[in-house]
Amino acid sequence: MAKSKVNQYIYIVQSSKEVTKCKIGKTNNLERRLKEYNNMTGKSKETVYQYLLTCEVKDMVTLENDIKYNFITLREEKSKEIFFFNTHWFNEYVKFIKSHTMFVKETYLKTEDKKQIVKIVKKTTPSLEERGVTRKELLQKAQKINNDEFYTRFEDVEKELNMYPISTWKNKTVFCNCDDAVDNNEKNTSAFPLYFLHNFIKLELKKLICTHYIGGINGQYDLFNQGTKGYIFTKEGYSEIKDYDTLKVYPEGYNGSFDHPLSLKILKEETDIVCTNPPFSRAIDYWETIVKSGKKFLVISAQTNYITMAFMPYFKEKKAWGGYNRVDWFLNPKKEIVSNPCFWYTNIKIKNRPRYKHLKIVPLKEIPEKYIKYDDSGYLQVDNCFIPGDYKKPFAVSSHPLFNGLLEKGYKIIDCYVPKIKNKDKFRRVLVQKETTQL
Ligand SMILES: C[S@@+](CC[C@H](N)C(=O)[O-])C[C@H]1O[C@@H](n2cnc3c(N)ncnc32)[C@H](O)[C@@H]1O
Repeated sequence: MAKSKVNQYIYIVQSSKEVTKCKIGKTNNLERRLKEYNNMTGKSKETVYQYLLTCEVKDMVTLENDIKYNFITLREEKSKEIFFFNTHWFNEYVKFIKSHTMFVKETYLKTEDKKQIVKIVKKTTPSLEERGVTRKELLQKAQKINNDEFYTRFEDVEKELNMYPISTWKNKTVFCNCDDAVDNNEKNTSAFPLYFLHNFIKLELKKLICTHYIGGINGQYDLFNQGTKGYIFTKEGYSEIKDYDTLKVYPEGYNGSFDHPLSLKILKEETDIVCTNPPFSRAIDYWETIVKSGKKFLVISAQTNYITMAFMPYFKEKKAWGGYNRVDWFLNPKKEIVSNPCFWYTNIKIKNRPRYKHLKIVPLKEIPEKYIKYDDSGYLQVDNCFIPGDYKKPFAVSSHPLFNGLLEKGYKIIDCYVPKIKNKDKFRRVLVQKETTQL
């Protein structure tokens, strides 16, 4: 007797309470699964789970595993089915699912306008037309500003900085130049100066210079409640300081921007190592400034940098590389935890990267078939951190092997690109190639 066909589904679901996250999972019964989610939270009007996408698939296990692997950096470490959510990444998840060979058909997709997260407050302000801006421009601007206003957590700074040999810092001047406020109250102090002030003697630092940035109209973006004047904080030598305010200067007209002439002067003339979490909206200019300066740096930036055209040349020219750790969690101005997939990047030499153990460098024929594909231009695509050690031509990988130290294992970057398979766009990848050994 023929077995009756069991439907298989992949879904994306979200709780109304956690709009920065979503769950991606598999089920044979969509209705029952949604009920389970809603029962789990003790169904209340406050917390309701809703599907954002449901689709029928041929093999839900394979597809679910592929999603987990492809978006490994967007997943929570503990709860593997929880993924980072914003409109961009949601569109990427949907694109990935719908272009997968196991995809059959979409059964539900919550549309963009219904899913608008940004609240538009109705009040008696002039209309958008009167202000000469479109709604799209306004939202883009609002999101850009919000995206910059994140605090880095102390534990993330400590975890990364502790990885570098202590001699890295000896007799050095460290410059924290993206709103790294210092206050007598640690709660209003950026995690970067906090780390260096706590460890000043241990690291044998020479000098710590930090700036407070005033952004927006009349300094309305003031993450650390430092007031509407930009300042420069300088601590030199080991003496104990009772009042940090005495170490601040407020130069006339100074806004604390990393590209203000005074900040650039400090960078050029005094700095040995730059260390901060720069604003995401200015990341391209920021990278250009620090790389050009020729100084050592250790900064947080998006996990997508290896596959982004604006940054890839730095990695290709070996002017920067990934640091030791990823950073997924930040605090928003309300001190709520928010996710944003980032990584440390640096030009300080990395020795014995613990992540090397994730690289699987083996002969091509030993790589399981499911991790190998060829794109429409004939480039080999390798997944799951397998590296074909005996392959001489360029091949394409995701960012993961690069974060795992591939460039330190005799490989170089050729380019980054969007591969097409059967004429369909796939995820951006990096083309790498084994370096020819000098004879
Ligand atoms: C991601 S937050 C990090 C804040 C702080 N450095 C930390 O790590 O907690 C980026 C900060 O850079 C500030 N910022 C924006 N534009 C800037 C600029 N041109 N120069 C310096 N800082 C800027 C933002 O206001 C925001 O406070």
